[in-house]
Amino acid sequence: MVYVSRKEHFNAAHKLYNPAWTDEKNKEVFGPCANTNWHGHNFELITTVKGIPDAETGFVVDLKALSHIIKEKIVDRLDHKNLNLDVDFLEGKMASCEILVIEIWKILAPEIKAITPQGELYSLKLYETPRNFVEYFGEA
Ligand code: NI
Repeated sequence: MVYVSRKEHFNAAHKLYNPAWTDEKNKEVFGPCANTNWHGHNFELITTVKGIPDAETGFVVDLKALSHIIKEKIVDRLDHKNLNLDVDFLEGKMASCEILVIEIWKILAPEIKAITPQGELYSLKLYETPRNFVEYFGEA
C-alpha cells in the first residue's frame, strides 16, 4: 500500500460563535476566536490517498486529477471566503477546523473514488496555523 499526498492552500475568514449562547459565554469559551468582526487564517489542506500502484501507470492516483478535484470542489469554494457566511456546505454548522475537515471529507471521498479504482481517500490534515491542525480518517 502506498500513500500519496497533495497539499493545497486557501485563505478564509471565520469566527467561532454558538448562536444558542450569550455573547458572554461565547467570549468565555472561544476567547478572541469569537471576535464579532471575524479573523482570518492561511489554511493548508493535505489530502492523502492510499492504494496499490496501477500496473500500467505506476500511479496510485493521478496527482494532476487529484489536484484538479481538490481545487474545484474545495479550494474554489473556500478561498477568500467567510466560512460562517459564504460556504453552502457549512451552513448552520460551527466554522471550526474539526467540522470543516469532516465536511471536506464527505465531498472528496466519492470524488477520489471516481478517479482511482485502486485507491481511496486515507486522511485529511487541515492546518489552521503552522502550529494548530486537525487530522481526519473518515471515522464517525
Ligand atoms: Ni480562527
